[in-house]
Amino acid sequence: MEERIKIIQESVDSFSVTTKDELENFRLKFLSKKGEIPALFDELKNAAPEEKKKLGKVLNDLKQLAENKFKSLQESIDSVSSISTNQIDLSLPVIPNKTGNLHPLNLTRYRIIEIFERLGFNVSDGPEVEDDWHNFTALNFAENHPAREMQDTFFVEKNPDVLLRTHTSNVQVRLMKNKKPPIRSIMPGRVYRNEAISARAHCFFHQVEGLYVDKNVGFSDLKQTLYHFAKEMFGNETKIRLRPSFFPFTEPSAEIDISCLICHGKGCNVCKYSGWVEIAGSGMVHPHVLKNGGIDPEEYTGFAFGMGIERITMLRYSINDLRLFSENDLRFLKQFKSVV
Ligand code: PHE
Repeated sequence: MEERIKIIQESVDSFSVTTKDELENFRLKFLSKKGEIPALFDELKNAAPEEKKKLGKVLNDLKQLAENKFKSLQESIDSVSSISTNQIDLSLPVIPNKTGNLHPLNLTRYRIIEIFERLGFNVSDGPEVEDDWHNFTALNFAENHPAREMQDTFFVEKNPDVLLRTHTSNVQVRLMKNKKPPIRSIMPGRVYRNEAISARAHCFFHQVEGLYVDKNVGFSDLKQTLYHFAKEMFGNETKIRLRPSFFPFTEPSAEIDISCLICHGKGCNVCKYSGWVEIAGSGMVHPHVLKNGGIDPEEYTGFAFGMGIERITMLRYSINDLRLFSENDLRFLKQFKSVV
């Protein structure tokens, strides 16, 4: 009998199950009334008294072993089945991870930088809190020039010499002071003007300044550079038009228009039925400005331009209200894929 107890003990130990049916087989084989362990208890009745005592203990241990094994097999089956049936449904679609994306103004800024970098322009930076000299005087704005009024400046702490820059042209002067020609740089940044906020104007917005100073830089270089930019930015079919304009720091000056992307020149409300939309101010750097930047205008010439990032973004994505850019409404921001 001892021999048989050993064999049963080993098979209880090594029994493994993966389904409820197999677990039931375990119970029937060892623990049920007609199972092997109760059968041994029956046999025990006929054993000699001194044998009975010894074997009874061994048999009780075996029964305990089988009951514990049954419990642990049951638990393992329960935990497996609750995962597969209650918690994970592998046929469900995956919940996509929420990832952030770039602000549309940054998408446009990166695209502008990419286009000009390929033409050999590098990127420069300058301060947003500026002094009068770099924002106005060095750029050939006379002391009482009405152009100063045009810019609706925010002054800092009632000191007329410290202001929030009204354009990125302030970086032009700093760049010329710090670097000898050839200079080929673009300067993106935030600018401020004391204007009433509407769908078309804001008290802060973003510009990209461009400056190219070298020997023999001509107006044709300006025109061709901006024509290339317009085609890269808005598509190969885009045309440009230069309109005479005025800025104190460029002479001659021109406003750059592109053919309307919406109606392709036929006339619509975006281009106010003219077929053209303005994207930049530009011109040949005024000799006074070169001089103020420490560059000899007899030796060098240059062109400069300044474009509004909001305006270009609005054209690019057909956005009709400038205020959307600064409201941080996720319903708006979520629509822009992070592809420059
Ligand atoms: N600074 C001008 C503006 O803000 C744009 C400009 C830049 C024009 C450079 C000419 C040359 O309107």
